[in-house]
Amino acid sequence: SKYQRGVKHLCESGITRVPSKYVLPAQERPNIKKEISERNMSNGRRSISLPIIDFAELQGSNRSKALKKLSNACEEFGFFQVVNHGISIEIIRHMMDVSRRFFELPFEERSKYMTSDMRSPARYGTSFNQNKDGVFCWRDFLKLICPPSSNALSLWPTSPSNLRQAVVSYSTETRFLFTMLMEAVLECLGLIETSENNYSDEEEFTLKDFGDGSQLMVINCYPACPEPELTLGMPPHSDYGFLTLLLQDEVEGLQIQNRGKWVTVEPIPHSFVVNVGDHLEIFSNGKYKSVLHRVLVNSTKSRISVASLHSMSFEQVIRPSPKLIDEHNPRRYMDTDFTSFLNYASTCEPKRKNFLESRK
Ligand code: SIN
Ligand code: FE2
Repeated sequence: SKYQRGVKHLCESGITRVPSKYVLPAQERPNIKKEISERNMSNGRRSISLPIIDFAELQGSNRSKALKKLSNACEEFGFFQVVNHGISIEIIRHMMDVSRRFFELPFEERSKYMTSDMRSPARYGTSFNQNKDGVFCWRDFLKLICPPSSNALSLWPTSPSNLRQAVVSYSTETRFLFTMLMEAVLECLGLIETSENNYSDEEEFTLKDFGDGSQLMVINCYPACPEPELTLGMPPHSDYGFLTLLLQDEVEGLQIQNRGKWVTVEPIPHSFVVNVGDHLEIFSNGKYKSVLHRVLVNSTKSRISVASLHSMSFEQVIRPSPKLIDEHNPRRYMDTDFTSFLNYASTCEPKRKNFLESRK
């Protein structure tokens, strides 16, 4: 159908209404009007501030204080923002810049990367799962598998001309940041004692497994939408990996579920929004929660975000850490691997997260 070509293409054809393909059933629509009136009533404080983790503090003499904050954030919100992360503004700007320019390319150029192969090193697509979604969402994306083997890199887009270089630098930096954050998370879970200590022999994962793990770069484009109250940029979903490091531009749109309410995450320039994914929820045996989130669109501004999703290698089976299971904390999740993720992704509604719950 013509909608397979994506929302950017649709907008370029000059629409003034949202086609019915994108109109959600009334109960699934974002209640934008109600939110705006709530925002006015509460003096503009509709959005909660996520816990802010100062990465420099985490790596410095205040580590134990920062670890406590990190652990609370993973338990209570499943989300936090990272500032002072040490990744240079140039690398971040460059990544945002090539992302924006990729979506400004003529459709013919972007469409070269359209494929239904989920394992393709570069995949351009639309909606959440365009082969399954009954109602489409207002989003186009480019997914890149990182770090590219030499073979994979050769399948990444050649245009804009500096895209490959920008993504390689950016993904190398975010991989390192992810590894440092995972080290802190393992320490919070009591699985390593201090940052200098090594793992005990029985521990199945090492930091190297995270550093050498899988990384998927998802570049999202949400064009301005004539009727944003009828649709969503992304439906409620959780992320599959250990942690997602998200870079968003200055346009708000991301909302997370917190205490039964949808709350907007305020963009902090050049910071990362980091969230717990399903694999960390499983690995922590439920201590840390992989929280539902969604994306609103708006009528005036298009929005770009870049999500870096990190997990173990695709072959690795993920299960609760044996050290987090005892008589008071029985095992809560079954084993999962990437094949079951792919099956899940192609068969379920995005908002079903309970596939994780154990059949014990
Ligand atoms: C995502 O949920 O992966 C994307 C979130 C966003 O665009 O803010
Ligand atoms: Fe997500």
